[in-house]
Amino acid sequence: MPVIEVRREVPEDAPRVHAVQRAAFGRSDEADLVDALRRSTEPQLSLVAVCQNQLVGHVFFSPVHIADCPTAPGVAGLAPLGVEPDFQGRGAGGALVREGLRVCPALGWRAVFLLGDPGYYTRFGFELAALRGFHYESGLFDRGFQVRELDPGALAGCSGWVRYADAFDAL
Ligand SMILES: CC(C)(COP(=O)(O)OP(=O)(O)OC[C@H]1O[C@@H](n2cnc3c(N)ncnc32)[C@H](O)[C@@H]1OP(=O)(O)O)[C@@H](O)C(=O)NCCC(=O)NCCS
Repeated sequence: MPVIEVRREVPEDAPRVHAVQRAAFGRSDEADLVDALRRSTEPQLSLVAVCQNQLVGHVFFSPVHIADCPTAPGVAGLAPLGVEPDFQGRGAGGALVREGLRVCPALGWRAVFLLGDPGYYTRFGFELAALRGFHYESGLFDRGFQVRELDPGALAGCSGWVRYADAFDAL
């Protein structure tokens, strides 16, 4: 099977990243979100998956904020994650998530939140955030809202509502 390389996004990747996210989600919202996050968030981590010189996947990490928790460490939100439909199921998504989780601590992030299918994300060590007292917008999201500490105990003593960057309001 061809090798999948994961690397930091460079400016020339932006049009292809947009196309991949649009194809993955079947709409432009997540691709437009990436453009807005690039402009508005700091720090940020944008990774691409490349196979045989073709950009086939992309993931973005941006800062999130735990309301009412003054002791909260720096934490990130993983979103969006998208892989070109023809290329799904070949490990690109997993490679993007694993590399992102490896690099996040260097950006000051000690935990990562996401909204997604636990059937996919538990393999990367994510667990339901509601079990630890974290929620996103309303209890309706509890079934998909997940968290992974990057160092054990990073979120000890902390719970509450998790607020994403303003750009997510457009989704
Ligand atoms: C979800 C997504 C990023 C996974 O990327 P990928 O490159 O296809 O995933 P990988 O090749 O690393 O992993 C494939 C495995 O994940 C499983 N998987 C993929 N999506 C899944 C889901 N929603 N729920 C449970 N398992 C899922 C596959 O069945 C496969 O399982 P296997 O390893 O047991 O065969 C990709 O399918 C995608 O872009 N989907 C559309 C956009 C989307 O839903 N993004 C995530 C939003 S949170």
